[in-house]
Amino acid sequence: MASTMFTKSILRRTLNFCRLVKICRIRNVRYFGQPTAKTHPHLLMEGQVTPGITKTEYQHRRCTLLRNAVKHRRKDDSAGKNSNSEFSDNTILIFPSASKVFMSYDIPYTFRQNTEFLYLCGFQEPDSVLIILNEHSNKNKEVSSKSVLFVPRKDPTKELWDGPRSGIEGTLSFTGVDTAHNIDDLGMFLYQYRKEQSSYNVWYNFTNPVHAALHDQFLARFLQESRNCYFEKPQQLVQNLRVLKSPAETYLLQVSAEIASKSLVEVMKYCKPGVNEAHLYAKMEFECRTRGADYLSYPPVVAGGARANIIHYISNNQIINNGELVLMDAGCEYHGYTSDLTRTWPVSGRFTPEQKQLYDAVLATQEACLKMCTTDYSLDDIYREMLIVLGHQLQSIGIIPSDIRKKDILSLATKFCPHHVGHYLGMDVHDTSEISRQIKLKPGMVITIEPGVYIPVTQDHVPPQFRGMGIRIEDNVLITETSPTVMSNMCPKSTKEIEYVMNS
Ligand code: GLY
Ligand code: MN
Ligand code: MN
Repeated sequence: MASTMFTKSILRRTLNFCRLVKICRIRNVRYFGQPTAKTHPHLLMEGQVTPGITKTEYQHRRCTLLRNAVKHRRKDDSAGKNSNSEFSDNTILIFPSASKVFMSYDIPYTFRQNTEFLYLCGFQEPDSVLIILNEHSNKNKEVSSKSVLFVPRKDPTKELWDGPRSGIEGTLSFTGVDTAHNIDDLGMFLYQYRKEQSSYNVWYNFTNPVHAALHDQFLARFLQESRNCYFEKPQQLVQNLRVLKSPAETYLLQVSAEIASKSLVEVMKYCKPGVNEAHLYAKMEFECRTRGADYLSYPPVVAGGARANIIHYISNNQIINNGELVLMDAGCEYHGYTSDLTRTWPVSGRFTPEQKQLYDAVLATQEACLKMCTTDYSLDDIYREMLIVLGHQLQSIGIIPSDIRKKDILSLATKFCPHHVGHYLGMDVHDTSEISRQIKLKPGMVITIEPGVYIPVTQDHVPPQFRGMGIRIEDNVLITETSPTVMSNMCPKSTKEIEYVMNS
């Protein structure tokens, strides 16, 4: 009896699903596993795979990546590296998607696609694999790339619960990849590939697999059985492309920074003595999401008073008392591109003279660093300058003694600001971490500039009026051929501007 009822209920659900599919077909709306120009015209235009990024741009990324992989291999071969593999141009790059992550039984966290996978194809479903390979290289050794996506199989029962999947046909209709298959066919595809080539170059993150289950099911065996092959991890190769933002990416990053800037202004206006840090967090999230952001790009730091000295303070559950400063480090993700801002302001809307003194010391340092955001310097160069300027600023207000040697000023400044001046910014907050901060900045890079000063209450060598204060100012900056563009300049920064927005 129970099993008949169960069967009937499955049947009913399946019929409902089929009816839904039919209605969609009649209305000429096809559901996909992600927004598309057909289903979400308010988000994407025809020809875009994800909002703002076209099929052509994704194809260009894959093609450039493959060319760079082949070039890298030819260079390594002529330098005599990896002599245990036969030289071949045959190249296969393998990028798994993220898997769903659960917070407890059956309850998923918000899904966030693996960044490299997303960068290369824009496909938003979990449990998928992108393969990029060279079709053949002709006499002139030109390579042409082919991309294949392995995607979750259409499944009415699963789709009834989790929402539509794009399937093979849907995937081909909007991604611009050359072929698509069900994920179950990945093993056979790799087996055929291995059989047809005597040697080849595999680019895959085998030391830290992105998707453990797909690795165990398909990829581990492929690697084990690949003989005479050259193995490399692809992160550096992909990040060399990702670190230089295209015009479309720059636009998305600009919007992300503007949303976060305008939202932070609303948080400042909402702030008053006695407010709970949690409410400022909620206000920021509300303001960002109602402006079109997908979510906050990281758990924000909302730190009242001396809690600002805990650099990664994310408990955000205290009351902020009259007379205290608030340090808020928050940003959002807008169609895959992040912002990362910090502002520090007085909860009352008015800086005390001591708060203003210390704040202006950090602001002067930040402004000196912003001027260096040009192709003449690296992030490490700017960091060094940050320590020098900050040291002098702290000397000028009596926090660092005036009679010490230059070398000691630097090491003392490091104590007051224990973090770097900034990092690359993009699809990830701490973007392209494989790219050295020693290289000179290039047009198209986006970075953060975020000096800070942290004075725990226990620092009894510091004049008492400054103890307990923590101040950071963080902006997002686009490097250009000429002067830098501060993408977050809609967010007030001088004490005067901050007091103005908080009191008007
Ligand atoms: N919000 C993290 C950072 O500023 O690097
Ligand atoms: Mn930050
Ligand atoms: Mn940052």
